[in-house]
Amino acid sequence: MADFVGAVDQGTTSTRFMVFDHGGNEVARHQLEHQQILPRAGWVEHDPLEIWERTRTVIAAALNGAGLSTDDLAAIGITNQRETTVVWDRRTGVPYANAIVWQDTRTDQIASALEKSGAGEVIRRKAGLPPATYFSGGKLRWLLDNDEKLRADAERGDALFGTVDTWLLWNLTGGPAGGAHVTDVTNASRTMLMDLRTLDWDDELCAIFGVPRAMLPAIRPSVHQYGVVARGGLPSTGTRGSGELPIGGVLGDQHAATMGQVCFAPGEAKNTYGTGNFLVLNTGTDLFASTSGLLTTVAYQLGGASPVYALEGSVAVTGAAVQWLRDQLGIISGAAQSESLARQVDDTAGLYFVPAFSGLFAPYWRADARGAIVGLSRFHNNAHLARATLEAICYQTRDVVDAMAADSGVTLDVLKVDGGVTANDLCMQLQADILGVPVSRPVVAETTALGAAYAAGLSAGFWRDTTELRANWREARRWEPTWSEDRRAGGYAGWKKAVDRTLDWVD
Ligand code: G3P
Repeated sequence: MADFVGAVDQGTTSTRFMVFDHGGNEVARHQLEHQQILPRAGWVEHDPLEIWERTRTVIAAALNGAGLSTDDLAAIGITNQRETTVVWDRRTGVPYANAIVWQDTRTDQIASALEKSGAGEVIRRKAGLPPATYFSGGKLRWLLDNDEKLRADAERGDALFGTVDTWLLWNLTGGPAGGAHVTDVTNASRTMLMDLRTLDWDDELCAIFGVPRAMLPAIRPSVHQYGVVARGGLPSTGTRGSGELPIGGVLGDQHAATMGQVCFAPGEAKNTYGTGNFLVLNTGTDLFASTSGLLTTVAYQLGGASPVYALEGSVAVTGAAVQWLRDQLGIISGAAQSESLARQVDDTAGLYFVPAFSGLFAPYWRADARGAIVGLSRFHNNAHLARATLEAICYQTRDVVDAMAADSGVTLDVLKVDGGVTANDLCMQLQADILGVPVSRPVVAETTALGAAYAAGLSAGFWRDTTELRANWREARRWEPTWSEDRRAGGYAGWKKAVDRTLDWVD
């Protein structure tokens, strides 16, 4: 039997392939960034062909770098940036347009029209989502409305829709020469087109968005035998291995991280710090409708078992705000420097930065919000801004943790964290201080890739069950709160005031 399991993690800014052993330890990885295409303010696109090329390359490079062949892998899993929308021609495999990324706000008119017409309530009730620019349905509608040929091809079943998992599966399993057109239930739950109860595309929702069913992929459980990597799926030069490489698990990245953090019981939650922040609370096999601005989503579905649902607090811009300091303002040269710069001051001296670059997601859902830096005086400098950026990451988490407590009655004893920003020690200390709850990071902080590997490994019989996975989780680091209650309450009150200043900015 093969000794390892692999996982593709196709994220918003980069694609990586990681290999894990039976203990959940990292054995190999390779990662490549891809281009962020920003044609206009508020628009964010990716080139699907570049993403596919990066994916094949990182798989081959990670295996080669560690001296492994595909025969060393029992299976691979796929996890991906969610909601990002791709349309391509079934006959040629060529995309009709760049992918519209989850952060893109071009569909704000579509979203507000849905709210005005009353369709928003149907979407909330069936799909568990507010009618926001974030989700795939509006993006797909926009593409169909803006390309007559695409619409005609879609009606005939020649144009296919997919989130990034579907696009990669199609290409990995054979592309136009016989690729599988499938998605998993977690990715489907982010489209506004799937009914959370039936786990199938819903005719009423498809009609609301004018989406022909012929272009939609089949929906399968997260742990499922999706097919095998086709000959030619991976670069022929340098990829060793003769056997078939099965694809055994597919999940959206936040759902994968929920598995990687072994949040398998109701009441268990994790918070992932990537481009954005995503807090996911396992609510078991019961569906909860949020009244506090959270989403209802499918956490995961293990084969034929009942789906496990979750409440999610999605925050659009957290790590991306640090990138903005680097790329747009040029006040730091890399993410690590945000910590050393912020450490030059003891506090922000009343400065707040609300990075509402894509409007505000949970719990506000305000497409009309725009970013703001408030409380400025001549005294302030780059160090205060860097510190305010780290605090903004943590205050936005506080917003969703409070919403979660209001919705579910679950108050966290500890916040399990993962993702790139958790390497920032100061940010994690601020997180514990702003929440008043300890923050805990596991040994393997790449829980997204790990969770996808777990899904694939369960389907291949590499791991027996979730109890075996639970035994792999070990804490690496814990941050305890140090602020007084007064400081915490005062700081949060200032944040709420700053958020108010960002609203109603765009008509
Ligand atoms: O919903 C968007 C989310 O899936 C993106 O995650 O890690 O690529 O920023 P990430």
